[in-house]
Amino acid sequence: MDRFRITGGQTLAGTIRISGAKNSALPCMAAGILSSETVTLHNVPYVRDCLTMRRLLEDLGATVLTPELHTHKITAANIEVYEAPYDLVKTMRASVLALGPLVARFGKAKVSLPGGCAIGTRPVDLHLRGLERLGAHVTLEAGYVIARAPESPDGARPRLRGGTVDFEKITVTGTENLMMAASLARGQTILNNAACEPEVEDLAALLNRMGARIRGAGTPQITIDGVESLGAAEHTIIPDRIETGTFIIAAAITGGDLEIKDCIPAHSAALIERLRCAGVDIEEVNPSTLRVRCDLANLKACDVTTKEHPGFPTDMQAQFMALMTQAHGTSNITETIFENRFMQVAEMMRMGANITTHGNTAHVEGARQLMGTRVQASDLRASACLVLAGLAATGETIIERVYHIDRGYEKIESKLRHVGAHIERLRESVTAPLA
Ligand code: EPZ
Repeated sequence: MDRFRITGGQTLAGTIRISGAKNSALPCMAAGILSSETVTLHNVPYVRDCLTMRRLLEDLGATVLTPELHTHKITAANIEVYEAPYDLVKTMRASVLALGPLVARFGKAKVSLPGGCAIGTRPVDLHLRGLERLGAHVTLEAGYVIARAPESPDGARPRLRGGTVDFEKITVTGTENLMMAASLARGQTILNNAACEPEVEDLAALLNRMGARIRGAGTPQITIDGVESLGAAEHTIIPDRIETGTFIIAAAITGGDLEIKDCIPAHSAALIERLRCAGVDIEEVNPSTLRVRCDLANLKACDVTTKEHPGFPTDMQAQFMALMTQAHGTSNITETIFENRFMQVAEMMRMGANITTHGNTAHVEGARQLMGTRVQASDLRASACLVLAGLAATGETIIERVYHIDRGYEKIESKLRHVGAHIERLRESVTAPLA
């Protein structure tokens, strides 16, 4: 397994370009299942999770062409398999996004339950209850979800029917799954307490280009008027707001001066507000460019509580914690979305951080000199936290299991090296020759 070697202490300066949003590309790729015509996606990030989603689509029988690294042309004209197998779903929970489209277009689906992951149990009960509200018959068999659309009264193909779905909890992929399922249902569907993330809006924009009739995406109530079929479309994935936030913090934690291009500042408003509160200088140069500077002498502790969008994103909690180890004072970081998202704390403590956790709140003592050492990545965003800590630490940090970070960051080490970081990827050595 590859590792990163980082020599800390470099001040980052220069320009970084943001890639497409993984968490928009994944549902948009799954939306290709809804049509027999070609869906062309631009600005798809070259990350492991998108490669996994591509493999899932091809296993179902779709063709995925990539005329250019960041362009995917998905044609689901010959879907012959309606199953997302365990060995794929266990590696990427977002595979559950195949469920809604398969049931909507073909009337049936068999998708492995995702199982838990490092940050929590990650249930999909809200996805399933929502499909039942659209008339699906859902059973669980040997770790798989089996979903079938109801027979049509007129003998036509089995087809979901519109209904009202009241989400007990806000769920991003649950909203996306139901939006896709409802787009081909008979009649109107209303999603209440829907997720408002920009990625939900981006998926709705693609679906409407394909011929869907969706209103209200980005607000807590989404209305979908089902149509008979969906067609071809071309769509450019929005920039990744979490990659944007991660590089904003890379600039801050090294006391640097970074220009971050191809981003959408408005998608990171809650994060930017907290960082400005902590004393980070963030300037919106133009609608797609930020300039970030920070004098670490002026960096002060700032409390944060994660919330669904437009609140402070849970996917930025670990990265913010890394920065707060360098701030003056003690900050309180409260995680409200996932039950076990402080996986980075133990490794940060090994680097010299002083963090105590009580329930879902971490108390981070600031102005700590971090020391480089060997650390282990555990999940995608905890890995990003360790990279940021390594940039700030004295000495050399070796981060193991960087496949976690490759899931959601495109070429992070070359982007950081480009602006002055001393970071290199140590490829897993081939097995040593037999003695
Ligand atoms: C999406 O995951 C993102 N992934 C996550 O990003 C992100 O952390 C999360 O939303 C929250 O913003 C993708 O978009 C591919 P949820 P998702 O359903 O949809 C509970 C990253 O780092 N819940 O919004 O799986 C759940 O346990 C990843 O890029 C149920 O109880 O998250 C959690 O506590 C990590 N039942 C809360 O809701 C359900 O059926 C929010 O989960 C579904 C969710």
